[in-house]
Amino acid sequence: MARELYYHTLPARILHWINAANIGLLTTTGLYIRDPYHFPLFANMDIARKIHFIAMYLIIYGIVIRIYYSWVSKDYRELLFRFRDFKGFPALIRYYLFVSKTTPESGKYNAGQKLLYNAWAVLVFLQAVTGFSLYFPDALAGFVRALGGPVVLRQFHFILTWVFIVTVALHIYLSFLGGWSVIKSMITGYFPEGESMQPVSEDVEEVAEHCMKWH
Ligand code: HEM
Repeated sequence: MARELYYHTLPARILHWINAANIGLLTTTGLYIRDPYHFPLFANMDIARKIHFIAMYLIIYGIVIRIYYSWVSKDYRELLFRFRDFKGFPALIRYYLFVSKTTPESGKYNAGQKLLYNAWAVLVFLQAVTGFSLYFPDALAGFVRALGGPVVLRQFHFILTWVFIVTVALHIYLSFLGGWSVIKSMITGYFPEGESMQPVSEDVEEVAEHCMKWH
């Protein structure tokens, strides 16, 4: 039997699915809250709002714990988008546009993945700022006014929702494109040796080593 690489640790996998579920719930309930006629996804407004209000706290805990875990497990070394990662984009774009057939070399995650995962943390933060301003309009009245007023904040919250919808759809599409091994690795943690997600360049191999154990 082919050896398997331990790719995603248990806490990383649990947090991945918790955060994914919360983003799913916040997006679907949010669309219903915005326009129940065109997005009839829930039985009534009361249920949709209750779910949104529970999931909004859970996503904040989920992201904060994920960042904390990144720090203690040191996996931020593979996940954090750094300035030098910009160098990886030309090859990645050529690959995604089918100009080049070679998968670009990168660490555990390529430049696009890192940028997206980091951007999601920032986007959740922005959703929390705009969302809590809508939630506590009186207590945060000064802040809401400074940010342009409730209408602007509501529109901003809605626009960011579409950024989530597009980027999550892209993430799911690329994961499926990677095949069952990629999806399975986020459930079991293991990835078959030889079926590398992407060629690992030498300079990051050392960095990635600490979390990749042979089983
Ligand atoms: C992270 C913390 C978040 C907080 C504190 C928050 C809070 C809120 C609040 C208070 C409302 C208004 C509800 C109402 O009027 O009944 C709302 C609406 C909404 N939320 Fe969130 N939310 C958060 C995250 C998200 C996320 C991650 C998404 C989607 C990815 C999302 C999508 C929406 C949408 C689409 C609406 C409807 C906006 C509209 O009516 O124009 N929210 N949110």
